[in-house]
Amino acid sequence: MSFPADRPRRLRRTSALRGLVAETRLHPADLVQPLFVREGLDEPRDIPSMPGQVQHTRDSLRKAASAAATAGVGGLLIFGIPAEKDPEGYGAWDPCGIAQLAIADVAKEVGDATVVISDINLDEYTEHGQVGVLDATGDVDNDATLRAYAEVAIAQANAGAHVVAPSGMMDGQVAAVRQALDRAGHHRVAILAYAAKYDSAFYGPFRDAVESRLTGTRSTAQQDPANSREALREVLLDIEEGADMVMVKPAGLYLDVVRMVADAVHVPVSAYQTSGEYAAIEAAAAQGWLNRDRAIRESLTAIRRAGAGSVITYWATEIAEQLPG
Ligand code: PBG
Repeated sequence: MSFPADRPRRLRRTSALRGLVAETRLHPADLVQPLFVREGLDEPRDIPSMPGQVQHTRDSLRKAASAAATAGVGGLLIFGIPAEKDPEGYGAWDPCGIAQLAIADVAKEVGDATVVISDINLDEYTEHGQVGVLDATGDVDNDATLRAYAEVAIAQANAGAHVVAPSGMMDGQVAAVRQALDRAGHHRVAILAYAAKYDSAFYGPFRDAVESRLTGTRSTAQQDPANSREALREVLLDIEEGADMVMVKPAGLYLDVVRMVADAVHVPVSAYQTSGEYAAIEAAAAQGWLNRDRAIRESLTAIRRAGAGSVITYWATEIAEQLPG
């Protein structure tokens, strides 16, 4: 017998062989493109900490949505940025608020070609940048915030969202949203729960993108990066409350959580490759320190390999355009 007896390299010899035995593939339909739309803009505006991403005008958003749909992306995740913030975050459920107008534009533009998802939160709309209504001491009032989220959910569903995604990590938010949608006759609108959402530094560029006023962190609502078991608790609670799909966020630093959740549940699992994950790769690539294309593909493949069925990523359209449909 020749030595070595085992030669795993045999299956790595050509790209055809590697392709034949690849366990994980990227497909446009598994990618979700987040998009920002800002009220009162005449031209799209660059987001400096997210090179390549912009705050859209309503018009440029429609075009970006159409390009994403043409590339075959599985979904779009819409974030609105109001021209004025206010204490209650009223713009989040105002029928004429920027997100509602944009959701209606996009839903009309793409039809059923891709899935229109909207983020339920108040943080883009409040003066203080918190995710909800504040109590007398300045803390977020969990239960009062649930009533606001119910209004936001109905406004977004009325505007034409196919899926709504509560992201504030308030206790009971999925049940509150499900009940509100059903009472308003929107039983067909699905819920993608930001179920295991960590208190992460990797949302920094997003907060620039939405002109967030937040000072400090969200550590009393979002999960401690030190913990993985409570992710399961959050996910199972959300499913019990009516989540149709669950999400882990961020993605790349939490692949253990993605795997654990994917093994434990029977609903689709999504992972959100956040603004900070995007910015880190873009910044290193811009310096010539990383091969941009390889780093992006590897990061997305790793998230899928860990068990995420879909990946929310700012590179969705770009990558989808390069993939076979
Ligand atoms: C809340 C929300 C945030 C993100 C998505 N939805 C910010 C936060 O929780 O502070 C972060 C997304 C990213 O960093 O790409 N509206």
